[in-house]
Amino acid sequence: MLDQVLKTLEGRRHASQAALKELLSIPSVSTKPEHADDVKRCAAWVADQLKAAAFDVSIMPTGGHPAVVARNKHQAGRPTVLVYGHYDVQPAEPLDLWTTPPFEPTVRNGAIRARGAADDKGQVWCHIESLLAWQAHGGPPVNLTLLIEGEEEIGSPNLGAFVRKHKDALKADVAVVSDTNQFARGLPAITYGLRGLAYMEVKVTAANRDLHSGLFGGTVANPANELCALLGTLHDREGRVTVDGFYDDVVALTPQERQEWAKLPWNETNYALGLGAPKIAGEAGYSSLERRWARPTCDINGLTSGYQGPGAKTVLPCEASAKVSMRLVPEQDPLRIVEALEATLHARCPATVRLEIHCHSHTPAVLVPTDGRAIQLAAEAVEIGFNKRPVFMREGGSIPVVNMFKRELGIDTLLIGFGLDDDNVHAPNEKFDLDALHAGTRTCAALYERLGRL
Ligand code: BES
Ligand code: MN
Ligand code: MN
Repeated sequence: MLDQVLKTLEGRRHASQAALKELLSIPSVSTKPEHADDVKRCAAWVADQLKAAAFDVSIMPTGGHPAVVARNKHQAGRPTVLVYGHYDVQPAEPLDLWTTPPFEPTVRNGAIRARGAADDKGQVWCHIESLLAWQAHGGPPVNLTLLIEGEEEIGSPNLGAFVRKHKDALKADVAVVSDTNQFARGLPAITYGLRGLAYMEVKVTAANRDLHSGLFGGTVANPANELCALLGTLHDREGRVTVDGFYDDVVALTPQERQEWAKLPWNETNYALGLGAPKIAGEAGYSSLERRWARPTCDINGLTSGYQGPGAKTVLPCEASAKVSMRLVPEQDPLRIVEALEATLHARCPATVRLEIHCHSHTPAVLVPTDGRAIQLAAEAVEIGFNKRPVFMREGGSIPVVNMFKRELGIDTLLIGFGLDDDNVHAPNEKFDLDALHAGTRTCAALYERLGRL
């Protein structure tokens, strides 16, 4: 039967691309209030497709943007798989850096280009398209529940409560998420670890208004100077984070893991060249892959203070702020890390300024066992989809739902992603390779057949 489904997919390639273009043309930017209606429209579009695949579909309210929940007819004795994806996207700005407009999907050089192409609409589409093909052959041989949410890119603030509330409806044996990458083009991967994230905002203030920097400079603290000085203390010369207690709970890499990763086809020089950076940087004593996948970091994501327009303006700004995120690894506790950053900065802050720190969101790192039956079946499915055995790897990014599924439903997640490092996710000119789209769709089709054997 799988062979026939794969054949059906072959014949639908053009239609599949056309449908994905429709999905990509909806600007479902979750963080912007003015796009709330587009977000709703996008949920409805996803729901309609799943209805066409003969699923029972509801668009369910959450505390924020709606979630699409769909299920096929669950049959006793079959395993149940919970598939998660997100239909919301990051903002497209800066718009002038896009070669073609972000919400006018265009195929060029073997890739479909639009905001959300790889993260995560293209990958969600792989699943839906494979289900449409399965439907032409009587439906997949497994009980499926799909949860496609609209708030991942803002940290899934309402999803934990949603999963808890709908525990019974979401009950499953294993979860599947396609929102990660291949190791390299044509070398697919199953991801068994993700870093966590604590996202903070740090604000420094002094005088009650902006001041002329000549008249007042040298008599009252400059919040921009003080914020930069404070943030400058967060790393030592070896690239280690100096937040007090930051490494206390970090699990060291095992020699086996280091050996396995060292065998992966990876070249540090090409990595730097591809990024256009003069030289690779980071914590001393680790390779880039180790730093990305298994070492915690602390980064400024945004920095705001004073005059930002063209030319010069002499001003002593009254406030300065920074968005600071920390990527976390197993067993770091996000709350402890948030408190550690607060305590460290307060201890280092001079009495001449006021310091306010606020946490936007936090989620822990995850590790999934690689010896289970489901992950082995998944590896078979990837091999069918890509004609290549997958490697097992970790990733540096974060997906909050994985921890929620573990905590609320007690299940592990198979992270089977089809993106590439050069997809420009969260950046201008995001794309998803057509090869990845079709191999990913085949993988999903095979996955539903294989997981039926659980
Ligand atoms: N899909 C990404 C995460 C990702 C991408 C993981 C590629 C591995 C490989 C996801 O949409 C994302 O952007 N997550 C955010 C976290 C969130 C809390 C906003 C991230 O990692 O910054
Ligand atoms: Mn994503
Ligand atoms: Mn993302």
